[in-house]
Order: sequence, then C-alpha cells, then structure tokens
Amino acid sequence: MTVLDVCAFDDLEPNSAQRFDIDGHRLAIVRFDDDVFAMGDKCSHADFSLAEGELDVDDRTLECWKHGSTFSIDSGEPTCLPATKSVPVFEAAVSGGRVQVTITTDTAVSGGASA
Ligand code: FES
Repeated sequence: MTVLDVCAFDDLEPNSAQRFDIDGHRLAIVRFDDDVFAMGDKCSHADFSLAEGELDVDDRTLECWKHGSTFSIDSGEPTCLPATKSVPVFEAAVSGGRVQVTITTDTAVSGGASA
C-alpha cells in the first residue's frame, strides 16, 4: 500500500478533474463539491485521459472526451458505451488541506502514454 501526496485541495478546480502523474501512477483527481475522488486516468476503451473530460455533477460521472463513455466517480464502472470495462478507483481523502490517495497493489495504475 502506498499513500501518495497529490496536491493541495485548494489547487483543484471545483467540480472538475485534473491529471496527476506521481511515482509512476497516472491519476484523474476529481473535486466534487467538498469531496475528492481518484480514478485511473486512462479510459478503459482506449488510451485517452479521463481528466480531460467533463464531470457530470448530477450523474456523478466523468466523461471520456474521445468517444463519450461516462464512468462513475464512485465505482469506476462505465455507464454507457463504447467502454465496457471499469477503470480503477482509489481511496482519496483530504488531510491537513492536502489530497492523499491510497494505492494498493491490486488497484495500481501504471503510467503510460498520454492522450
Ligand atoms: S477512448 Fe474513451 S470512450 Fe473511447
């Protein structure tokens, strides 16, 4: 298990996602109101960044900008085609004003080509 110190919570734009590459982990960090969520920043359909997509605050999903699949920020499951596989989600928390993400071995996402 690894705990990554990602950024200051106040550095995140409200109700949007931002990409971070830390220690070989490629993360989409989502600020949703006063909560924070962490997902692997690679669409399960093809290698495109989810952090560049739109957050739907009503559906609690992040949309892949390339072909429009949406992914639950809670579970990582796709909610529409063409993606059919989940993306990993990670435990995220704010401590002392810092966003911290816990990576476990079964949820680790390696870095890779950017979109
Ligand atoms: S690359 Fe994301 S839906 Fe196709």
